[in-house]
Amino acid sequence: MRTTYCGHLSASDIGRSVMLAGWVNRRRDLGKLTFVDLRDHTGLVQLLFASDRDDLRDAHTLNREDVLVVRGTVQRRSAGNLNPEMKTGEIEVQVEELRIENRSKTPPFLVDGDGADTTEDTRLRYRYVDVRRERVQRALRLRHRVFHATRSYFDEGGFVEVETPVLTKSTPEGARDFLVPSRLHRGSFYALPQSPQLFKQLLMVGGMDRYYQIVKCFRDEDLRADRQPEFTQLDLEVSFPNGPEEIYALVEGAVARVFREVLGEELPLPFPRMTHAEAMRRFGIDKPDMRFGMEIEDVSAVVASSGFRVFADAVAAGGRVAGILAKGCARYSRSEMDRLQALVVAAGAKGLSWIKVEDPISSSISKFLTHEEMSALVAAFGAERGDLILLLAGERIDKPLGELRLAVGRQESMAQPGWKFLWVTEFPLFELDEEGNLASAHHAFTSPRPEYVDRIESDPLHIPSNAYDLVLNGTELGSGSIRIHSRELQERIFRCLHITPEDAALRFGWFLQGLEYGAPPHGGFALGMDRLVMMMTGEASLRDVIAFPKTANGMCPLTEAPMPATGRQLAELAIRVEEAE
Ligand code: AMO
Repeated sequence: MRTTYCGHLSASDIGRSVMLAGWVNRRRDLGKLTFVDLRDHTGLVQLLFASDRDDLRDAHTLNREDVLVVRGTVQRRSAGNLNPEMKTGEIEVQVEELRIENRSKTPPFLVDGDGADTTEDTRLRYRYVDVRRERVQRALRLRHRVFHATRSYFDEGGFVEVETPVLTKSTPEGARDFLVPSRLHRGSFYALPQSPQLFKQLLMVGGMDRYYQIVKCFRDEDLRADRQPEFTQLDLEVSFPNGPEEIYALVEGAVARVFREVLGEELPLPFPRMTHAEAMRRFGIDKPDMRFGMEIEDVSAVVASSGFRVFADAVAAGGRVAGILAKGCARYSRSEMDRLQALVVAAGAKGLSWIKVEDPISSSISKFLTHEEMSALVAAFGAERGDLILLLAGERIDKPLGELRLAVGRQESMAQPGWKFLWVTEFPLFELDEEGNLASAHHAFTSPRPEYVDRIESDPLHIPSNAYDLVLNGTELGSGSIRIHSRELQERIFRCLHITPEDAALRFGWFLQGLEYGAPPHGGFALGMDRLVMMMTGEASLRDVIAFPKTANGMCPLTEAPMPATGRQLAELAIRVEEAE
C-alpha cells in the first residue's frame, strides 16, 4: 500500500509523490490547515491537509492511533515550521488522498511518551500498543539482529541447528519443572525442559558433531529482573573438544560477531579468565563486576594476634578477616553505615567493623585495637585521609564481602562504562545446598577436572570441575562444561548426590543408556539470549526485551495466563483441583 516509509523521507524527496501508511501520532488543527504526524516503525512525518478540500474533510476527525493510508507530495516546510528536533523536520507531505483504514479507541497511554504516564502492567496488558513505542521497537529489532548474527556465525562454523522436544521428561538444572498433564496417559505428566541439556548430549552420541539451537527453556522459579519463567538460550555442544579452551574460543567468536554486527563494536579477544576460587577470594562472588576495582583485601595476618577477640578468634577458627577500601567514603553518615551493616548481616556476616581514616581516626573498633594495630590496618589497605575501611571477620564472609563491594561500588557509581567480559573457570563440582546437602554446582553431567577424579568421594567439596561461566559487567550471561561421557563416572556422581541407582534409572535411564553406546567426549555451553539483549540495549529488565513477557508473579497481563482449566478439561485429564486455602 505504500511507496516508502515515513522516517525514510528527507529533503532529497522534495517534489516526489509518495504513498505512506501508518498510525496517527498527533493531530493539530490550525485554522485552514490540519497537521497530522504519521508514524510507522521508521519514524514520523508531518502530513498537511488543506481544509478547503471536501474529500479531506475527515482529517479533522483523526485521533491518536487511527490507521491511515495517504497519497501526497513531499514539500519543504515553510520557514517558521522547520523542526530540527525531528528527523524529517525539514519536510512535510501535502496530502492529496486520505484513506482511513481503521479507527482506534483512545490508547491507554501515549505511544510517543516516555512511559511515565502509565504502569508496566498497563503497558503489558496493551502490549500491541506498547510495541509501537520506539524503545520497544528498538529492543525487538536489535534482538532480531542478535539472533540473525548468531545463526550466521554457527552456520558458518559447521554447526547444525537441531530442535529438541518441549514436551519431555525432567531435565534438571536446579529449578522446579513446569508440568503438562497427559490426557492419553492419565496421571502422567510431561515436563517442559529447563534446558536441552540431555538431548544435546545425546546428539553428540548420535554423531551430530556440532549442535546449536536458539531454544526456549522453562523454569518454575522465583522471578527477578533477570529471570523469566520461559526464556531463550543459545545452546551449543561439540564433540571431541580440545578442553574448555575450544568452547571459550567458540563462544567468544559468537559474542564478538554479534557485537560487531549489531553494535559496530570490536570486543578485544580473548576475554580474561579467572578461576572460581580467585573470583571468590578477590571479589566475593562468582560473577565479578570488573568495571571497577575495590578488591577484597585479606588482613588476617595483620590482626591474627590482635587483642580484639572477634578478629583473633575468627583467624584461629580457620576463618579470616578481610575487607574493602572505600575511597573517599569516610564521609558516610551514621545511617549509611547502618545500611551497610544491615546488608552484610542479611548476607550472613556477624557484623561490620569500620575505620574512618580521618584526623583523628574514628572506628567502630577503636577501643579494641592498639594504635599500632590500627596503623597497620590502615597501611595494609593503603588507606589515605578521607577513606573508609570496611572489615568482616569469620569463616563464611565471601558473600557478604561481595555484596558490600557491589553496594559501595553502586553507591559511588564506580563502574566504568564499557563491556567487561570475564570467564570464570573451574567451578567446584559440588557445593552445599541450603539444607546442607551435597549438590551439583553446575549440573550433574559436568565432569570433574581429571586430576581430581580419585578424590570425588573422599573430598567432594574440594573438586574443581570443568565448568565455566561467562560474565558480563557482573551478570552471568551463560554457563557450560565439559561433560561426563562415561556411564561409570556418571553413576559415581549420582551416588555422591544421593541419587540411588533406582532413582537414576527412573529419571535418567534413557540418557545413561546412551552413554553406553559410544558416547564421544563432548562439552558445550548455553548463553541467556534475553540477558545478552537486555545488556546490549541497556534495559534494566528482561521484560523490556521480550515481546510478550510475564510479570514478576509469573502472569501474562495480556492473555491473563495462567487460567483455571474448565471442568471438562480437568475431567479429561482426570485431575481434581483442591481449593486454595
Ligand atoms: P544454566 O542453567 O546456567 O545452564 O543456564 C544458562 C544461561 O541461561 C540463562 N538463564 C535464564 N535467563 C532468564 N531467565 C531464567 N530463568 C534463566 N535461567 C537461566 C542465564 C544462564 O547463564 N544446560 C546448561 C548449559 C550447559 O551446561 O551447556 C544450562 O542451562 O543467562
